[in-house]
Amino acid sequence: MSPTVASLLCLGLWLGQKIPSAEGELFRPSIRAVPGPVVPRGAEVSFSCQGPQGSKSFQLWEDENFLLQINTTRGEAAFPFSVKGANAKGHYRCRYWQGPGWSEFSAPLRLLVTGFFCRPSFLVRPGILVAAGETVNLTCQIFLASGISKLTFFLLKAGVPDPLQFQSTEEKVANFTLPSVKAEDAGDYSCIYLVEGRRRASDPSEVLRLEVTDYTTDNIVSLSLAGLVLLILGVVLAEAWYSHRGS
Ligand SMILES: *[C@@H]1O[C@H](CO)[C@@H](O)[C@H](O)[C@H]1NC(C)=O
Ligand SMILES: *[C@@H]1O[C@H](CO)[C@@H](O)[C@H](O)[C@H]1NC(C)=O
Ligand SMILES: *[C@@H]1O[C@H](CO)[C@@H](O)[C@H](O)[C@H]1NC(C)=O
Repeated sequence: MSPTVASLLCLGLWLGQKIPSAEGELFRPSIRAVPGPVVPRGAEVSFSCQGPQGSKSFQLWEDENFLLQINTTRGEAAFPFSVKGANAKGHYRCRYWQGPGWSEFSAPLRLLVTGFFCRPSFLVRPGILVAAGETVNLTCQIFLASGISKLTFFLLKAGVPDPLQFQSTEEKVANFTLPSVKAEDAGDYSCIYLVEGRRRASDPSEVLRLEVTDYTTDNIVSLSLAGLVLLILGVVLAEAWYSHRGS
């Protein structure tokens, strides 16, 4: 099957998904990847599909292909999966059976398998130590020969399973922005990229640890100045006291 035919079929399925099921009463299932959707090459990952109580059976699909079925009445199924080839587009969807028909598909989950390309460079501006309220720019960039068409860059944060942001571009750079950072934006950031239409992603970039302080630089300067004034005052007073005792 040519890629175009495959993507047309895929599009067909995608469009089909939007049509409500005949019942009109089946809940849309949800899918998630465990431990997360960004996994190293060769890793084991499992997909968990959640449907309503009373569902009888679950199916996992990769792009337009049926992969696995699990019969269970527990309302949730875990599909073990090992990442082998990485040329599939890497969109996974699931659905459940609750007679007389299959539910609609879950939203597609994108699996990103890292380790196929050299890591991108990663820069943070104005720096890794920023004050609450500042805007932080994170630049993910590659320096490869031409021949690569469209890339998608992903911003990752340690402890957050899904990518925080992504950008598809024909450039070799993506600029991510964290506007008006708060204390909870502190953490370890990295980025990866993939060639559009594949699940092959690069090695993760260097990890940058962003720290968010309560104080702006202005505040720090005024605090230090205040401290300095107190210190000088202390010295002057101490000298005055000693010279008074001495006289
Ligand atoms: C699940 O149930 C269906 C229909 O009852 C059956 O055809 C199929 O073989 C079962 N699959 C597994 C993996 O048990
Ligand atoms: C961050 O990016 C925005 C928009 O591109 C720009 O206006 C701003 O000056 C940048 N800030 C830093 C610190 O680079
Ligand atoms: C990203 O930022 C860099 C450095 O500021 C700039 O040269 C480049 O044009 C920006 N690229 C995009 C796609 O915004």
